[in-house]
Amino acid sequence: MGGIDETDAVGLAQALTRLLDDARRQLGPGRGAALVRRVTDHVGVPLADLPSVALQLPMWEHVTLHKGVEAYLAAHSPEAEWFGVAGMARGHEDLMGMLAGAEQHGMYVLGAVEYATATAGPDEVVDVVQLGYVPTVAPDGRPVVIGLRGGYEQFGDPVCELRVLADDREVATAVRDEVERLARERDVLRGAVLFFDVNEHRGNEMVSFLPRPELSVEDVVLPAGVLDVIERHVVRSAEHTMRLVELGQHLKRGLLLHGPPGTGKTHTVRYLLGRLRGYTVVILSGRAMKLLPQATALVRRLQPAVLVIEDVDLIAEDRGTHESTPLLFELLNRIDGVDADADVTFILTTNRVADMERALVDRPGRVDLAVEVPRPDADGRELLLRLYARGLPLQAAQVARVVAATEGVTASYMRELVRRAVVRRIDAAAPVTLEGTVLDEALAELTDERSTLTRALLGGAPAA
Ligand SMILES: Nc1ncnc2c1ncn2[C@@H]1O[C@H](COP(=O)(O)OP(=O)(O)OP(=O)(O)O)[C@@H](O)[C@H]1O
Ligand SMILES: [Mg+2]
Repeated sequence: MGGIDETDAVGLAQALTRLLDDARRQLGPGRGAALVRRVTDHVGVPLADLPSVALQLPMWEHVTLHKGVEAYLAAHSPEAEWFGVAGMARGHEDLMGMLAGAEQHGMYVLGAVEYATATAGPDEVVDVVQLGYVPTVAPDGRPVVIGLRGGYEQFGDPVCELRVLADDREVATAVRDEVERLARERDVLRGAVLFFDVNEHRGNEMVSFLPRPELSVEDVVLPAGVLDVIERHVVRSAEHTMRLVELGQHLKRGLLLHGPPGTGKTHTVRYLLGRLRGYTVVILSGRAMKLLPQATALVRRLQPAVLVIEDVDLIAEDRGTHESTPLLFELLNRIDGVDADADVTFILTTNRVADMERALVDRPGRVDLAVEVPRPDADGRELLLRLYARGLPLQAAQVARVVAATEGVTASYMRELVRRAVVRRIDAAAPVTLEGTVLDEALAELTDERSTLTRALLGGAPAA
């Protein structure tokens, strides 16, 4: 042994053992007994022999699970009262471990119910039981205890747990299944627009609710017919699911939108989501690709549904070489794995279609419509000018000049152009007008050498 002789080591071990024994005596098993008794007295079985079953779900299911328990209690024991647990390390222990820790070491004692707030919609926050147990009865009247514990993200534990303790495992299973069924009926994710992301620090998943976008047809400027084709593919199928099924046609559909940055791929997706009211939407960015299995499972379960995978090329990029794009194949396999008659739409966007092409050609049938979202032509640029001028009058000559001078720019460039012009005029006390040469000035500003970077970022013409 280097640095420490044997006598020292033995002495240290003895001292540590004494310390632990002291601590154990001081905590005393008696202190946890009241907590354990609340469970065992109700069920009538000692802890060591107590049958229990659990259901563990990702943290974002916590609200839904809570609602399932609430509904169960309302139906079977509306008067039931929750009790909680006090003790330092509860974030590290599951619902059975806590009872065992209470009985053996008095590490946990009877305490207050721990509540937390959780999001249940874009503007909806609800109180949920974060940690607690509640005595209730099985549908056949036999006593059971239900435990609920949300995840403790700060301890790297992003899982929520339902536990049912009963004098018989089948009884416990029946109660768990019933709570799950009630929870699924109340699923807060159903019909919501959800954004899946990965927490950069902890690496675990985060789900947020987004408001459903409300865009009208006029807000989307695309070459004639393009939006129709997209809409027919995605929305019309959605409107005629029953008939399509009757006619033996598959419902599952895949759409790839490709084109340069800033041409309106995301914008078009947002428009579609507004049209698909009631559809569950999961939006996944390329960065959160590791959540693909959960996202696919969710859209299957909560159909009718849409899975949007933004910047799908990031997957290809991730792997560097052209040959190996395992994540992309994984994606295509997942799409494949969803039943053809599922009302699920996959929407992929990319500005590097070449990277995608080979994979899609090699494995056809996953994406049944690929549409290019191009830079706007002259008509498109005029429409965009008028759209983003938002009703401010424009003179024909002025519009013609700007449209002629913006060949090759993207839609978002046109939007920025109008914004700059408005900013130029906004200082004046008078109402803003875009008349005169202000659009030309804004354009000069944008095309100025010094704005090269901005221009590239906004999708200006490649070489001006
Ligand atoms: N076709 C369009 N019609 C109307 N507005 C558009 C259009 N394209 C882009 N815009 C405006 O520009 C903004 C940026 O466009 P968007 O995010 O849709 O680009 P994108 O094609 O998804 O680009 P990227 O490849 O970088 O993701 C939109 O929020 C919208 O305001
Ligand atoms: Mg985009």
